Amino acid sequence: MAQTWTPNSWRQKPIQQVPDYPDVAVLDSVEARLAKYPPLVFAGEARRLKSALANVAEGRGFLLQGGDCAESFAEHGADTIRDFFRAFLQMAVVLTFGAQQPVVKVGRIAGQFAKPRSSGVEKQGDVTLPSYRGDIINGIEFTEEARVPNPERQVMAYRQSAATLNLLRAFAMGGYANLENVHQWMLGFVKDSPQAERYRKLADRISETMDFMKAIGITAENHPSLRETDFFTSHEALLLGYEQALTRVDSTSGDWYATSGHMIWIGDRTRQPDHAHIEYCRGIKNPLGLKCGPSLTADGLLELIDILNPANEAGRLTLICRFGHDKVAEHLPRLIRAVEREGKKVVWSCDPMHGNTITLNNYKTRPFERILSEVESFFQIHRAEGSHPGGIHIEMTGNDVTECTGGARALSGDDLADRYHTHCDPRLNADQALELAFLLAERMKGGRDEKKMVVNG
Ligand code: TRP
Ligand code: MN
Repeated sequence: MAQTWTPNSWRQKPIQQVPDYPDVAVLDSVEARLAKYPPLVFAGEARRLKSALANVAEGRGFLLQGGDCAESFAEHGADTIRDFFRAFLQMAVVLTFGAQQPVVKVGRIAGQFAKPRSSGVEKQGDVTLPSYRGDIINGIEFTEEARVPNPERQVMAYRQSAATLNLLRAFAMGGYANLENVHQWMLGFVKDSPQAERYRKLADRISETMDFMKAIGITAENHPSLRETDFFTSHEALLLGYEQALTRVDSTSGDWYATSGHMIWIGDRTRQPDHAHIEYCRGIKNPLGLKCGPSLTADGLLELIDILNPANEAGRLTLICRFGHDKVAEHLPRLIRAVEREGKKVVWSCDPMHGNTITLNNYKTRPFERILSEVESFFQIHRAEGSHPGGIHIEMTGNDVTECTGGARALSGDDLADRYHTHCDPRLNADQALELAFLLAERMKGGRDEKKMVVNG
């Protein structure tokens, strides 16, 4: 793999999941236009995220990555962004307290538009049309017109990403993320939850900690770290023409960076070592995610690690494991052992969504119990192997949707029809997402107490 890399060297490789653009000249002109637009993120920010993730890889931190399965043009509004950020920050506070470690906050947002599909076509009755591949490529409506890939959508996605990122930066730095606010929202959630009793203990301890800090004079006025937070963006780097157009040399280091988002990941369907997606990703310096599903062997993983992170730099690579609640025990240990044996530095993250999708009443859904169960197994396995369970990767929204069953409000199969809005996969709603954080925080705390007992005893 010593061949030289360029932002377009991926074009020489076999590639999966490419849309069939009818007019290549239009596609070329859109890509040329995008290549002149300003970068969405700055290389220094990607480096800052990488160093935060390096701490996680070394066991000193936890990665919270979450957001939409697929962002949509139609739902681009301030309320959607704010509600997501609000739910996400509440999770972050609860997890920070549970882990007693910094939480690295990475949204699946401001660029998460392209979707891999298991089939290139969709059939309804006797009509067959191209599959929906995400708003950056085509429209979700089942009409010929909507489903033809349209390059101009890439410009729309770029502009939407810029606007979303702009608001998120304002929220993160302009006072909205003040810890005191987030804490008050969290208390509101606990009060209204049918599981209030269960969550109150943890919530009370966070309140006490906040009161103690206030008593000794540590406030948001005199400590900017209490009112600001580092928030980063990420998406699957699936549409490589778009990614290439936003790939830029960082003038301070001379290195290439993807400037479409801070972190990008490679999907489970596009991780063939000699194919285009791996080729593109190996040459940029951003932190990378790699989705690991049941078909990944230990040797296959080591080969990919060598290509993507030859210098074994901590923070460069996050392994996002997505096996399914009933398969994680079968697949995760062999990957952990291989990585540990070879001394590879990675962040281990658990995606408990993608291996737990079922169909119920004709809806794609995910039972909350299975999601929780996969994360719990992930923690247990890491504890048994002596490795660090470094993070979670979830699909969620701040809205009150009914897409995943279960949770404290016990959504049933019959409730799915009420507010099933996703363009792609079922997401946790705001309550379910925060519940997941509470349940994890309880267990993280338990795990720490156990460890201390071993050390002291
Ligand atoms: N700056 C710290 C952090 O990001 C504390 C903090 C401020 C925070 N606002 C927050 C933590 C909102 C979680 C959520 O960790
Ligand atoms: Mn998804």
